[in-house]
Amino acid sequence: MTQDEMKKAAAEAALAFVEKGSIVGVGTGSTANFFIDGLGRMKEDIKGAVASSEASAQRLASHGIRLFDLNDVSEMPVYVDGADEIDGSLAMIKGGGGALTREKIVAAVAGRFVCICDQSKQVAVMGKFPLPVEVIPMARAHVARQLEALGGRPVLREGFTTDNGNIILDVHDLEITDPKGFETTVNQIAGVVTNGLFALRGADVLLLATPEGVREIKEG
Ligand code: 5RP
Repeated sequence: MTQDEMKKAAAEAALAFVEKGSIVGVGTGSTANFFIDGLGRMKEDIKGAVASSEASAQRLASHGIRLFDLNDVSEMPVYVDGADEIDGSLAMIKGGGGALTREKIVAAVAGRFVCICDQSKQVAVMGKFPLPVEVIPMARAHVARQLEALGGRPVLREGFTTDNGNIILDVHDLEITDPKGFETTVNQIAGVVTNGLFALRGADVLLLATPEGVREIKEG
């Protein structure tokens, strides 16, 4: 089974979590794209979707799925998205695609976060995947110095601007043994919009695709 086949299998399994008549929160990335394509087949069963990026909004629209502004949505039973790393407590590193801030906002409104991953994303300790940090451009050097003081090696994501008009620093060489504490610490640096740790609000369900099938793992 290829990695793409596993991503698709996890995404297809997530369709079972979509409630009829609801507005669905939709993530960003190659695994989320498989989910969007599946959602396209059941678009008559849902009210619509809130996208976590311009790219996902375009893909949802191409399937004729109605898009909602998050400000007009008070109830969203489920948010479905991929991850770059996920640990045993279902804390994640996200933002490989640079959509971390909108992903965190949309996920915050949702009742449940369903994470869809192939098995390569499961880790014991996060940090091998560089931690994305969205930064206000004028704060780049200050934030980089603070991240170095925390033991990381920030690298500017060249030629990339987020949907919010900001830059991304990808922080290498981390071993994140306290994901909630580290998420809080990095978010307190002046100039940081948010960082790609989703630990304070991790996933509620992980659909982990393996060559043997999709495993459902629940938080707690
Ligand atoms: C985008 C993300 C993605 O969920 C993450 O990068 C995983 O992507 P993929 O499904 O392509 O492996 O956080 O900002």
